[in-house]
Amino acid sequence: MAKKDEVKGHLRSRFKKSVDKAAEKYVASISFDWRLYKHDIAGSIAHAHMLAKQELISKKDAELIVSGLVSIRDEIEQGKFEFKPELEDIHMNIESRLFEKIGDVAGKLHTARSRNDQVALDMRLFVKEAISETISRLKDFQLVLLDIAEANKAVIMPGYTHLQQAQPVLFAHHLLAYFEMTQRDVVRFQDCLKRTDVLPLGSGALAGVAYPVDRNFIAQKLGFSEVSANSLDAVSDRDFVIEYEAAAAISMMHISRLAEEIVLWSSAEFGFVELDEAYATSSSIMPQKKNPDVAELARGKTGRVYGNLLSLLTIMKGLPLAYNRDMQEDKEGLFDTVDTLISTLEVFTGLIKTLKTNSARMEQPMTGSYILATDLADYLVKKGLPFRQAHSIVGKLVQYAIGKSKGFQELSLDEYRVFSPLFADDVYSITVKTSVQARNTVGGTAPAQVVAALSRAKKLIRARNEK
Ligand code: ARG
Repeated sequence: MAKKDEVKGHLRSRFKKSVDKAAEKYVASISFDWRLYKHDIAGSIAHAHMLAKQELISKKDAELIVSGLVSIRDEIEQGKFEFKPELEDIHMNIESRLFEKIGDVAGKLHTARSRNDQVALDMRLFVKEAISETISRLKDFQLVLLDIAEANKAVIMPGYTHLQQAQPVLFAHHLLAYFEMTQRDVVRFQDCLKRTDVLPLGSGALAGVAYPVDRNFIAQKLGFSEVSANSLDAVSDRDFVIEYEAAAAISMMHISRLAEEIVLWSSAEFGFVELDEAYATSSSIMPQKKNPDVAELARGKTGRVYGNLLSLLTIMKGLPLAYNRDMQEDKEGLFDTVDTLISTLEVFTGLIKTLKTNSARMEQPMTGSYILATDLADYLVKKGLPFRQAHSIVGKLVQYAIGKSKGFQELSLDEYRVFSPLFADDVYSITVKTSVQARNTVGGTAPAQVVAALSRAKKLIRARNEK
């Protein structure tokens, strides 16, 4: 048998026929799982060291295996490695190459190991890395949010419910809402890390291995905090992938909401913000267009990230223990989700960082509008009226003002007094500024609260850096 078919030949020894070409292509995963090469090689190196330490293979053989693996990693990184679909997956591609490089000693690496615990290990190493990359991107995004909140601390905008003007809020307060969302995202990923940080290697195909392996040694070499407690579970558990995808779906949902606001705010009708040209696209027919495609795509890509989560949940739901080949379908969705989330965070960070804000346009829709209606009701409450009654009086006042096409400021005191004798001259000192100042409760939009929220947010990030 030719050397290159060594691994495949060994594996198919119980068959007389070779595999059907279409079937071979169908089961192959190398076109996407090549991305696990680094993790696979790191796992194999740790495994080889452990086998030698436990005297399951000689030190010399371990050294030969390790140096072979290191040179294979170099080949892959230099683009010199030929990935072969007939060798199915990344594990067999690497093992086969190891045979070519060091001969039969390569066959000792798979002692006390199965591809089932091997792939579970690779996936965990990959997800651990993805989590730390994701958290660092989230942090960059949070820092930019804090910067523009800080730079626009005094800007007041209409706050909305039902996309109808509700009450004035500080623009910084609005942005800090996204800080809170992304902060929960960070904590969710940190939490997901706890359950990902468990070593499955040593579980064998499903039942454990019949050799005196030292699983803690491998865990320590690879930086895992724990070893898995049940071999059947360890090879068939993809919860950590689902959790990453779920956390990513929530995180994308948050970005998507901001994306929607950017789309609205950058329209001529709102004009609250202007996209930097570096983050805007043009139209092929309408020369005037400055389109927010980046924001739209962030909104759109959220759909595929949800899809990947749903796909894996569906793949897993009917699988009997332990490993089933269906689980190979976990990879493309995960890779896509990681790539989508990380690239979205990266470009969104730039988009927000370069966003121009237009404070005059943010305040403009509030002039002559009735956004201060709650403040008028609060005014009457302070003068002794029950809130429900005050609400009803101001409701009637709004109806009257609309009929006269006047804003609150344009009504005369006599007109006010038709609705309640409690109205006095000081009613004219109610402004969007006094409105935000009045909401001085923890978590409210008053400038003092927003300043406190900003410094709390900065402290959170600093504390995370120190960890
Ligand atoms: N490529 C496989 C996967 O991603 C590796 C595990 C194969 N195990 C097996 N028993 N065929 O799941």
